[in-house]
Amino acid sequence: MLKANQNYLKLPGSYLFSTIAKKVAAYKEANPDRTVISLGIGDVTQPISPAIIKSLHDAVDDMSSKETFKGYAPDLGYDFLRKAISENDYKKRGCDIAEDEIFVSDGAKSDSGNIQEIFSESCKIAVCDPVYPVYVDSNVMAGRTGTYDNGTEQWSDVIYMPCTADNDFVPDFPKETPDIIYICSPNNPTGTAMKKDALQKWVDYANEHGSVIIYDAAYEAYISEEGVPHSIYECSGARTCAIEIHSFSKNAGFTGVRLGYTVVPKELKDADGVALHGLWARRHGTKFNGAPYIQQKAGAAVYTPEGQREVKELVSYYMENAKTVKDALKAQGYAVYGGVNAPYIWLRTPEGMKSWDFFDMLLEKASVVGTPGSGFGPSGEGYFRLTAFGSHENTAEAVRRIKEL
Ligand code: MLT
Repeated sequence: MLKANQNYLKLPGSYLFSTIAKKVAAYKEANPDRTVISLGIGDVTQPISPAIIKSLHDAVDDMSSKETFKGYAPDLGYDFLRKAISENDYKKRGCDIAEDEIFVSDGAKSDSGNIQEIFSESCKIAVCDPVYPVYVDSNVMAGRTGTYDNGTEQWSDVIYMPCTADNDFVPDFPKETPDIIYICSPNNPTGTAMKKDALQKWVDYANEHGSVIIYDAAYEAYISEEGVPHSIYECSGARTCAIEIHSFSKNAGFTGVRLGYTVVPKELKDADGVALHGLWARRHGTKFNGAPYIQQKAGAAVYTPEGQREVKELVSYYMENAKTVKDALKAQGYAVYGGVNAPYIWLRTPEGMKSWDFFDMLLEKASVVGTPGSGFGPSGEGYFRLTAFGSHENTAEAVRRIKEL
């Protein structure tokens, strides 16, 4: 008897950003005369920089000649890119990550959704709350949906660790021990970042409890403060407890190009001594045919001196927006967080409004789209996220409209 995967039926009808897109499309249809400004989904708006564009063109040209044509990419990534990543993102920062511990992929979203496959369905996960929805949704799809009751207490496969203004958006250790801990820093959605000493405590906790940390570093290029680690491998002991996920989307504008990578150190093992590196390699070999050559060449250009300079300029461009939004909202009396080490501004909704009510009000009255905090988890209720990924002009206009509310 054909039966759909019942785990999927436990998820909300659509993914958060699809729900928002539908609402916005309906609003636009009903109000064709209004110009909508989107500071909702964290999608970049500025063009890819010249050094990277040149590399993309050159890579396309390589495909036109017998000598340089490329077929299937190596499923774990081309050596030229893995070497550039290892040198620039790790060795230069004093982190001991070898080229063959880097798995190149088509992006951090796929990796953060797929990585749970190498763990048993019986594993319990812990997530910061609010949380990037992919972590929870992908675990629910994999069957980690149970709620248990031992008579005195109740717990579930998914442990939510509240991150609010009360704990400076850094989670406390949960009462029960998780097997897999998701940490995103700088954080999506709160825009806050963990200092090295706080992250070191989590690394120590994971090593002590035999847990693994899945560390999402997609926004590391936005770190501006000293003392905030760019990689979890800056913490001692991380090689035995952490997997790290990176993106080229937010630093180099690859949301439409697609490229990312994941690091699985060889020392990282489960309780029976099974190396997770081999499992992730096995999964890549079976389910992935390698990120395209053209994208990987573009990724390598990010690490050239020109690429690095241009990427820094792009990051600064967006961070100017973060400052514009943050300063303006503060001046209007909003409680505002983030926006210093991340391209997200996290604000408290005015007068205790529900997040979705604020979303509707902002769309209706100002034609500005943001993301309701409660869409990221229960502790996001009463908060709201704006991105810094707009153009300067749109960001200034959005801020002006919010002021007039
Ligand atoms: C977001 O808005 O949270 C981002 O688009 C997340 C992502 O990169 O998928």
